[in-house]
Amino acid sequence: MNAPDKMSTNIHTNLAEKATDSMTADGTADSADLSILMNDVRLTLTSAAGEVNILRGLDLRVAAGEAIGVVGPSGGGKSTMIMIIAGLERATSGIVKTAGIDLASLSEDDLALFRRDRIGIVFQDFHLIPTMTALENVAVPLEFAGKPDAFAKAEAQLEAVGLGHRLTHYPGQLSGGEQQRVALARAFAVEPAILLADEPTGNLDRATGKAVMDLLFDLHDRSGTTLVLISHDPKLAARCDRIVTLTDGRIVGEEIPAHAQDRGPEQGVASA
Ligand SMILES: Nc1ncnc2c1ncn2[C@@H]1O[C@H](COP(=O)(O)OP(=O)(O)OP(=O)(O)O)[C@@H](O)[C@H]1O
Ligand SMILES: [Mg+2]
Repeated sequence: MNAPDKMSTNIHTNLAEKATDSMTADGTADSADLSILMNDVRLTLTSAAGEVNILRGLDLRVAAGEAIGVVGPSGGGKSTMIMIIAGLERATSGIVKTAGIDLASLSEDDLALFRRDRIGIVFQDFHLIPTMTALENVAVPLEFAGKPDAFAKAEAQLEAVGLGHRLTHYPGQLSGGEQQRVALARAFAVEPAILLADEPTGNLDRATGKAVMDLLFDLHDRSGTTLVLISHDPKLAARCDRIVTLTDGRIVGEEIPAHAQDRGPEQGVASA
């Protein structure tokens, strides 16, 4: 849904204001109304060639219910940022709060539960379970989350992404775009508070890509899902409330797309 109605516009504006108000000058305190807070996040990994500084002081604040697009050159750290927001990778230093929770305080087991209950992720390379059918891949997280009718919901979601005829296929029997749609169905089905999507239309033709992104923005509008959408497609990023540019492990720019500008200057939550 491209043009939010007045009510959702006001909600967005209020959320952004709250997020801004709740921050102290150093951005480290009360983050209750923020869905995502990253403060001076650094990630250094050691490879055969020595230390690699992947994130270099990344600051990001996303209000609950906000949709942000993330753009930037290949290798800039976009996928890494998503892994850190989801707690799949731990920052070397800095503060990461997702859904108000300081991820550094969680054990690996608690992180897994936190992801199950709060986060949906569409990975750039799908991460489907190869020994499970499309239907099972979508149903399993629903079952883990204790949702009733997991298989019926999974089937409905696969139908919604145009895969009703591929329910019993294994990932190895699906095309790249079909696997991507299974990954999207899996993330949508649990209706997460926060949805992290990494190049979710990278393997889809234009019409299919638009159809599944309509589903994604539908979920955002309907459930107030916070969205972080990495995309090289400017049209897709422009559907978000705000677009940030990530280069060399930092957020270096922020832009409010035309459709969101009438919400007033307070819409954007400062990202740096
Ligand atoms: N385990 C690792 N060890 C060393 N370097 C890594 C590791 N994982 C990622 N990198 C490096 O971190 C940088 C950021 O990678 P990342 O995948 O986050 O980029 P990206 O912005 O998502 O790029 P793309 O648009 O190509 O998907 C890259 O230079 C990559 O080579
Ligand atoms: Mg990437």
